[in-house]
Order: sequence, then structure tokens, then C-alpha cells
Amino acid sequence: MAALEPGILNSTQQLAASRGVDLDALPEHVAIIMDGNGRWAKSRGLARLLGHREGYKTLRGVLLNASELGIRHLTVYAFSAENWRRPQDEVDGLMKLIERAARDELAVMHRNNVRVRVAGRMDEVPASLRQALLDGIETTRDNTGITFTLAVNYGGRAEIVDAIRRLVESGTPASEITEELVSRNLYNPDLPEPDLMIRTAGEMRWSNFLIWQAAYAELFVTPVAWPDFGLDQLVEAVATYQQRVRKFGGLA
Ligand code: FPP
Repeated sequence: MAALEPGILNSTQQLAASRGVDLDALPEHVAIIMDGNGRWAKSRGLARLLGHREGYKTLRGVLLNASELGIRHLTVYAFSAENWRRPQDEVDGLMKLIERAARDELAVMHRNNVRVRVAGRMDEVPASLRQALLDGIETTRDNTGITFTLAVNYGGRAEIVDAIRRLVESGTPASEITEELVSRNLYNPDLPEPDLMIRTAGEMRWSNFLIWQAAYAELFVTPVAWPDFGLDQLVEAVATYQQRVRKFGGLA
């Protein structure tokens, strides 16, 4: 789904290039806080769950677009460790929607060479959802295309706590605990840290998403609600990212 052959661009790449995107300097890892489903639904007089359903459709398109563009890793915040506080019908609806998506999209993701991952406390999600996610990981484990990580029951602080627990359980002496060792004990230690963090629907916060890994991520916030997000906004985010000067605490 990425470049057809060296030098031949697919239509997504052509569009991005025409808008100033340097295809040789793409962010390797893009993370997205998919916010605004509820407001999108409310503004149309619809139930919140219909906003989430529309958000699912958006996600299918964005995964395809990101893959066609040549982005290597995409991570999305599907359900936070704090989202359990929502009304029970919304929680149940989201769980079912994510499970349905995991099952219904598996064949097409596999065909498209997508490698599925999850991030979050899987032991706390319904067993049938956990199984659907594990099936996705297992089926696609050897794929070489875009890595698509679904953050489900995910909290950045919980992830750090889980990493520290693992280190303590393995008897690691305190003096040996380094940033690198903590990183190696996160949920997906083989993934590079996100370069670009996109948040939709205008809020300017991290909401506990990848707080360790996103220490040096560039943040792009769009007022567009997630159900209305599309290729135009993805390309705008990447183009904006490419205008930033990343210094990692040093000098430009
Ligand atoms: C935030 O919008 C969004 C979520 C809590 C859930 C994200 C879920 C999806 C995009 C759909 C399903 C995902 C998959 C993987 C199939 P919000 O409800 O907080 O919006 P609001 O701030 O406007 O109320």
C-alpha cells in the first residue's frame, strides 16, 4: 500500500507531495488522540455512540491513508483507562464497537500487510474483546507493512507503573534502573517513540496518552472533530510537523 515502486507515487503520496510534504522525511510513528466523537454526534442531535461509530469509519480511512503515505507506525487511543467512568451504555457500546472492528477488519488488515498491536491492560477488558485483539496480533505478527497499535484500556501512568512492577519483580537493583530500561519494559518496547501526536477536536492536552514515549513528540491539534478528520487533515499535520525544528533539548 505504500509506494508502488521506487519513484512511482500512489495517489495519496502525490496529493501529499503536491501540498509540500517531503516523502523522504515522514514521521516514522504517528499517534492520534481521536477526540470529539461525542460533540460531533451532539451537534447533529444524535446519540454519542453514533459519533463513535462514525469515528470507526474515519479510523479505517486514516489507517489506509497513513499506510499509503508511507508512515511506518500508527497508534490510536481507542479507550483510555479513565473511560470506564463514562455511562455504562457508552462503555458497553465502545467495547462492542472495538471488538466488532477488530474482528471485521482483520482480514482486510492482514491482506494489506498491516501488523496489529495493542497497548493497555488487556487483563481488564472483556474476554471476548481481549481474544479478538489477541487474534489480530497473532494473525498479523509477521506482516511487514504499517504497525497499527490500538490503545485499549490504556493509561500512560499505568503503563509506567506496569513497567516498574516488571522491573521490581525481576529483581532489578534500583541502581540499574535507567530511562532505557524503563523504555524496554513498556507495552511495545520495539516501537519507536512517536514523532507526531495528533489531537482532534481542539483540546490542548495529552490526556495520559503515551506520556513516557511522547516526551519529544511534536503536537498537532486540529479543531476538526475525529469523525470529520480525513486525508486533508493528515497531510496538514505531516506538513506542519515537517516545518518544526526538533531539538531534543539541544540546539537547532
Ligand atoms: C473521544 O471522543 C473518543 C473516544 C473515547 C473513543 C474513540 C473511539 C473511536 C474513534 C471509535 C471506535 C474505535 C475503534 C478502534 C473501532 P469523545 O467521546 O470524548 O468526544 P467528546 O469529547 O466530544 O465527548
